[in-house]
Amino acid sequence: MDRLQQAIQKARRARDSRQQPQPLQPVTEEQLHVPQESADEDIWLTVPEIVIDPGLISRKRLMSFNGGADATPYDMLRTKMLQQTLSKGWRRVALTSPYSGCGKSTAAANLAFSLSRQEDLRTIVIDFDMRRRGLAEILKQTGNYSMADVIQGKVPFHEHALRHGNNVIFGLNFSSTRNPAEILQSRRTIEFLEQLEAEYKPDVILFDTPPLMASDDSHGFLKNVDCALLLAAAEETSIDHIDIAERQLAELTNVMGIVLNKCRYISGAFGNEYGTY
Ligand SMILES: Nc1ncnc2c1ncn2[C@@H]1O[C@H](COP(=O)(O)OP(=O)(O)OP(=O)(O)O)[C@@H](O)[C@H]1O
Ligand SMILES: [Mg+2]
Repeated sequence: MDRLQQAIQKARRARDSRQQPQPLQPVTEEQLHVPQESADEDIWLTVPEIVIDPGLISRKRLMSFNGGADATPYDMLRTKMLQQTLSKGWRRVALTSPYSGCGKSTAAANLAFSLSRQEDLRTIVIDFDMRRRGLAEILKQTGNYSMADVIQGKVPFHEHALRHGNNVIFGLNFSSTRNPAEILQSRRTIEFLEQLEAEYKPDVILFDTPPLMASDDSHGFLKNVDCALLLAAAEETSIDHIDIAERQLAELTNVMGIVLNKCRYISGAFGNEYGTY
């Protein structure tokens, strides 16, 4: 069993033990998991399934949708991310950037598909960039509500969300919200996340969040995540902006790393055997 598998199992055991009383006698992993697993799967299966148009794979850069060599850059990012989250007991991961257009939503979608191949893990991807339909537009999904509506109790999460396979759920925005900063900083958002974790027991929650320097939308929210990945766009984001954004982020949460996205030219030392990203 490789180190990642061991870490996944350790994290799942830790998660389950948080939700169940400690057994007096050592129990087998099978005994620990079976009742919990079936209860979880029931609620996951109430979420309607997402249908992805295969044409989006090239149009919207959903490179990791089908796995294989094309998915390698995002699979590597997924694995590096999991090594940190699982070893540190982190669950809530935000994707952010200094300014818009660095590829947060595209990365969130691709990480979701990469994570869906990690069958032992359950992932929820939430679009908290509430001013636009970002992730819904990339996945070409339509609907009536937004995550703000879910938080405000206008629609239950299981009716609004969409499920990919048995282990990934998307919470998208089908309309924009007028006051996202206030909603993201509200007590209701904190309670919504606590309830989501209690009901769905995800191993990872990925948040697509607004750019740090474009508004204060996510500043109040980021203290509620365990860590954040900062995305920068090669040849677009300046070093100064990366530096300022990283310092701002570090005051709010753990900075997991900086991803230099959209690299056209990359040397072997920083790319991977199959290609670059
Ligand atoms: N790795 C990449 N290489 C080249 N282009 C990319 C890459 N990732 C994303 N893009 C392109 O960059 C543009 C912006 O991507 P995306 O919408 O994911 O960014 P974003 O950070 O979510 O932007 P916003 O802050 O406006 O929501 C899109 O046209 C997308 O296809
Ligand atoms: Mg976006």
